[in-house]
Amino acid sequence: MNRTLVICKPDAVERGLVGELVGRLERKGLRLVAAQLRQIDEATASEHYEEHRGKPFYPDLVGFITRSASMVLVVEGPDDTWSIVRTLMGSTNPAEAPPGTIRGDLGTLLTENLVHGSDSAESAAREIAIFFPGLA
Ligand code: RTP
Ligand code: MG
Repeated sequence: MNRTLVICKPDAVERGLVGELVGRLERKGLRLVAAQLRQIDEATASEHYEEHRGKPFYPDLVGFITRSASMVLVVEGPDDTWSIVRTLMGSTNPAEAPPGTIRGDLGTLLTENLVHGSDSAESAAREIAIFFPGLA
């Protein structure tokens, strides 16, 4: 089995959409391995989003992801589960994400796009270790 990290971001928790997001992952056939409702602190956000440090949108991104609680998940499925999750999420900008995807159905803003999913097998391993060191 193969694991990836998913974050239901603060906008999803604030809007009461965690059940909807988890339901979509489960109905797809993925299984929850770990789940924690937590407010991500700045140090953890900075480690998680290290690839974006120095980019113009980075301060807003960290401000957003730390502003209130997130639901952080590890999900499990077959090979390349990270890719299955990314397909369910839709493109980064919800305005361009197709209907049927989480971002396409539920969001409008690039800055509040509901969900994070690891973007490779290497990212999945790195990110799971940040949030759930006991699982690594
Ligand atoms: P995420 O990491 O949150 O799952 O999103 P992603 O892979 O689809 O997109 P990524 O390129 O990793 O960007 C991380 C988050 O930064 C915001 N962003 N803003 N203003 C901009 O040009 C811009 N580009 C990215 C988005 O909220 C994106 O989810
Ligand atoms: Mg990303």
